[in-house]
Amino acid sequence: MERLDKFIADRGDLSRRDAQKLIKGGEVTVDGAVCRQPDRKVDESSAVSVRGQAVSGEKFVYIMLNKPAGVVSATEDRRDRTVIDILPKEYRRRGLFPAGRLDKDTEGLLILTNDGDFAHRMLSPKKHVPKTYIASVDGAITQDMIRRFEEGVVFADGTRCLPAKLENITKNDNYVARVTICEGKFHQVKKMFATCGLNVVHLQRISVGNLYLDSNLPIGCCKYLTNLEIKQVFIGNIHENKD
Ligand code: URA
Repeated sequence: MERLDKFIADRGDLSRRDAQKLIKGGEVTVDGAVCRQPDRKVDESSAVSVRGQAVSGEKFVYIMLNKPAGVVSATEDRRDRTVIDILPKEYRRRGLFPAGRLDKDTEGLLILTNDGDFAHRMLSPKKHVPKTYIASVDGAITQDMIRRFEEGVVFADGTRCLPAKLENITKNDNYVARVTICEGKFHQVKKMFATCGLNVVHLQRISVGNLYLDSNLPIGCCKYLTNLEIKQVFIGNIHENKD
């Protein structure tokens, strides 16, 4: 059980003070009756409405965003629009953040949540959650590159990447690869190709674990993940899970 004002603030984009004002102003109902007490105890089985709009009982939300290029994976930014700024109003909540980062020019699957434990599990280097990308590059993908990715690319500064899977899916003269990595170093995919002498000209993330970008979700749009989809994030490691 938790206080009504906190329940409302945690599940929307209102501050606790604003929630208290609405409650005292008679704009909140609990189980169909107006409730003016901010400290009234409620839980996820309570039917809470603010100005006639039902407040979702779930404390944590998990959102799949098909990230467009041109927005940054941050909660706020002085210069650029963020992945939070582009969410439709009904998805906004205090405490939402992107679980991991895609570069400003990278598109595709990004999960937004307010569940810190989930993000920690997904991003922990020990968990080796695989992330798959489609990368368009500016030259031919060779067997030697496939071997280097498999053995673990070593950057110019000596940093060694974990073994990764590089598949050549080039069609005609469009040099395209599917790349699966199990860690999240800064600009990792671009740097792995750069080490092999190629530039990435377009990058899209298509999966995290066994969760795939919904092909019906247009770029810039989002949807809530189901419980099954949330679990799929943690299935499908290409490396042995160490813990
Ligand atoms: N690797 C990159 O280089 N960029 C991304 O956005 C994600 C992985």
